[in-house]
Amino acid sequence: MKLSIIGSGYVGLVTGACLANVDQHVTCLDIDEKKINKLRNGIIPIYEPGLEGLIKEKVASSSLTFSSNISETVKNTDVIFIAVGTPTNKENDSADLSQVYSCAEEIAKNIKNNTIVILKSTVPVGTCDKIEEIINLSNPSINFDVVSNPEFLREGSAIFDFENPDRIIIGTKEKNSISTLNSIYKKQIKNNFPVIFTTRRSSELIKYASNSMLAMRIIFINEIADLCEKVGANVEDISLGIGLDKRIGPDFLNAGPGFGGSCFPKDARALVESGKSYNAPQNLLKAVIDGNEKRKENLSKRIIEVAKNRKNIGVLGVTYKANTDDIREAPSLSIIPDLINKGFNVSIYDPQASRDGIKEFEEANWESDIYSVAKKSDCLVILTEWSEIISMDLKKISDIMTQPIIIDFRNLFSLDSFKKLNIEYHSIGRETINSHKEVE
Ligand code: UDX
Repeated sequence: MKLSIIGSGYVGLVTGACLANVDQHVTCLDIDEKKINKLRNGIIPIYEPGLEGLIKEKVASSSLTFSSNISETVKNTDVIFIAVGTPTNKENDSADLSQVYSCAEEIAKNIKNNTIVILKSTVPVGTCDKIEEIINLSNPSINFDVVSNPEFLREGSAIFDFENPDRIIIGTKEKNSISTLNSIYKKQIKNNFPVIFTTRRSSELIKYASNSMLAMRIIFINEIADLCEKVGANVEDISLGIGLDKRIGPDFLNAGPGFGGSCFPKDARALVESGKSYNAPQNLLKAVIDGNEKRKENLSKRIIEVAKNRKNIGVLGVTYKANTDDIREAPSLSIIPDLINKGFNVSIYDPQASRDGIKEFEEANWESDIYSVAKKSDCLVILTEWSEIISMDLKKISDIMTQPIIIDFRNLFSLDSFKKLNIEYHSIGRETINSHKEVE
């Protein structure tokens, strides 16, 4: 079977590399010719653990190729995945579907009989119906199907998530499509991962509802953490205590700086807009979005308050989470400019974030390791849970810095780690360790 995937980004490349095998050739497509040429030369434009090796392996076995010639590839493909971005529309917070619709137009011009078009992109309810209309308009006589198949890949563990899905959701009622999708996901089916067949609209909505529910959990525990700080409770104990309830579960209850990334923020906003347009208001989700934005402002204020007698702040981790180079909607994008505007000198360490083209960080200076940041700082702020930061030598930090302060928005360290160190340690939803006074 010949598959093609339009959109060689975080989702398209992982999907293409994982689906390519001896009896399933995949062509990853992109309009960005530079990106395609880099991929052909083995240069992967994103950081996703394991992806480079997997792509090289599949290219070597000739089951994966790259092209920017969408029309030609569409003519020779049985199944076409659309995996382009659906960013937030600046004017009205809805999903910007321009890339999806231009794919549909391109497909409509070149589609052959019995092709299956699969929406992997996160799209509002009803988009698959619109794609079907676009293709039908210029191909009234051919037989094709449009299927919804949203992804649930976490950046940093996307290959694992693809191979070991909690579930595969497929929206179609067409028998031919059902058997084709069963064949495409035969490996996951053989390993007994659940495959749910439903309508297109239910499948489209499952994706938004899933991300929105996860985003809600994060805002919930973050606001409980705020209360913990006021009443002297420990948010980690709260997470443990509620997570043992099987109806709640332990995952996704780590208090942090708020959610970022290319999915939660845009999907929450898009679902609120969908609610408005169908007169089914998503009030809870509005509060989640507002709470997440407010949190970033509050974190800046907290840093400024704690570090008010200091001049130099080192920020450890700027990506929106560990194991990715992605900084889209990361808390650092608002926090670092806030600190610079307040007159602090800011230095940055992040193992993967690319240094160029981030205007928000232009006035900060990058260091290549944690201890170089520590040397230039009298306060360290932790925004991302990189393993390099988790394993940093706190004794060395306390030797390098004078009366150091650490503000840890990921609760990476146990409070006991600071009992004997000359470090003032602030974290989220837990007591502050102010050991400067205790050191003999
Ligand atoms: C998410 C969904 O998990 C995935 O299913 C979907 O396909 C894409 O969006 P991703 O954005 O890669 O994946 O990251 P995820 O690990 O889900 O974290 C999302 C955000 O929540 C990050 O900013 C992370 O730091 C934050 N988070 C996550 C918390 O603050 N606390 C947690 O306990 C978990």
